[in-house]
Amino acid sequence: MAYLLPTVKLAKAWAGQEKEPSNFYYKLTPGNRDQLIQLISTITGGGYSAIEGFVAELEQDDELRLHLETQLKNTGYGRDIEIDYGRRLGWYAFIRMTKPRTVIETGIDHGVGSCVIASALLRNAADGHPGRYYGTEIRREAGKLFTGKYATTGEILYGDSIESLNAFTQPIDMFINDSDHSSEYEYREYQAIADKLSDSAIILGDNAHVTDCLSRFSRETGRKFLFFSEKPKDHWYPGAGIGVSFGEKRLQ
Ligand SMILES: C[S@@+](CC[C@H](N)C(=O)[O-])C[C@H]1O[C@@H](n2cnc3c(N)ncnc32)[C@H](O)[C@@H]1O
Repeated sequence: MAYLLPTVKLAKAWAGQEKEPSNFYYKLTPGNRDQLIQLISTITGGGYSAIEGFVAELEQDDELRLHLETQLKNTGYGRDIEIDYGRRLGWYAFIRMTKPRTVIETGIDHGVGSCVIASALLRNAADGHPGRYYGTEIRREAGKLFTGKYATTGEILYGDSIESLNAFTQPIDMFINDSDHSSEYEYREYQAIADKLSDSAIILGDNAHVTDCLSRFSRETGRKFLFFSEKPKDHWYPGAGIGVSFGEKRLQ
């Protein structure tokens, strides 16, 4: 009970509010943030302080936070929702470090991930490395936070994700899977993009705490795979993670 009670207390307080019913927002514990930075540093070859700088850049981005909070109020999504980025800090740092020209995120929900990715792409462009964002989403009402300057970086392709991926013709540098979380659908997404990945492409899987699909896909296609396990700070949710699939050359 000593282990469980703090989590039960957090869950009770959370249940009395008008929060997001899934796709929860929270901070990472300080130790978990450190683990995430080490993992990205190992995979990309970037120094710890450079990656830490990118993570801090997103945490301290008051303009993005204001945009998300203002849009949330205007859209009528849950009254008590507060935005924190959790593992999306890792998505951001990967994009800032590797400067992809094309980023796909499947599954948008409110559009927090979309704006985080767009924000990284805007800064990459200001540094001389432009890139485009493509989101896929089946619900027309999703993605309401993806507006303003963030929406100038790309577009949301509404419809079934696999159909949008099949129709996609450009080389993909960064692919983030976060749509239908059944293992069968997740694996089909990886198959749909297999021949479209650029040589240096990185795949970030949002389902790797549940399935072995990205690990299996990596084995089958000669790619490496690592998993980052999330530890939420002051939240009852046990956390998800980031599965990372990348080419062997990245570790040399
Ligand atoms: C976990 S949420 C995405 C969260 C988002 N990536 C973020 O960072 O906040 C999953 C989303 O996938 C969408 N989705 C589910 N099945 C889909 C499909 N077959 N094609 C496209 N989108 C789908 C859902 O409507 C939902 O908005």
